[in-house]
Amino acid sequence: MTLNNAMSITPLPPLKTARVRSKHGSNLGGNFRLPWVSSQWNSTEFLHPLFSSDAVRRARVEFQQDSETIWSKRFIANDDLPAFLKQAFRIPDDALADRWLDVRWNAPALMALWSGAVASGRPKEEGIIVPSAHFFTPETTASTHYFYAISFPRVLGPIAEDLAASNVEALRGPFECEDKPVIEAVARRMAGAPFWSLKPVLLTNDTPSIRARRLVEQKIQKENQMNSLAG
Ligand SMILES: [Fe+2]
Repeated sequence: MTLNNAMSITPLPPLKTARVRSKHGSNLGGNFRLPWVSSQWNSTEFLHPLFSSDAVRRARVEFQQDSETIWSKRFIANDDLPAFLKQAFRIPDDALADRWLDVRWNAPALMALWSGAVASGRPKEEGIIVPSAHFFTPETTASTHYFYAISFPRVLGPIAEDLAASNVEALRGPFECEDKPVIEAVARRMAGAPFWSLKPVLLTNDTPSIRARRLVEQKIQKENQMNSLAG
């Protein structure tokens, strides 16, 4: 069962206004003190208090690249999941969970996620895996549509559709109240400046996304070269 949903990310006020106001040197805010950078917090925990557990902080993150496909694989042991996730992954109420999040990226902005969990200490093969998709389609140079979908196995019966509906609703809160305002605020502060010119602070977990960014940059460069040859 799959439910689709979408939202749009549009920094306001318009970039022209923001460009006048922003003169700083980093997209994380040149004038802000960032204690979490040195304490190795990662951006997900910063954005989503719901997932800000010690277990997530201790997570193991692996990066893989296979030609133009990039993987980020995170494994989190002994996590105490919120109730809606325990239900989705069939983790007993009083149990901790071992869980993983494998993200596959392909250009330009297509991500497939496999989120799995199993009662702590049990083999991964016994766990439930929930696939989801996250696609971005630019609307203008300063805004994008964000489409997401989540799936549960048909063998679960009618509960699969209920789970998909309740999970899409549960995701809507963090997306709209946590991701979206921060992404829009960062875009306003960047004010259209090239990413690297702002000398961003890079955390260990940024490796896959930075590699993805490099690949897109290479593809754009190649396309521009082809266009200039053709022109
Ligand atoms: Fe997020």
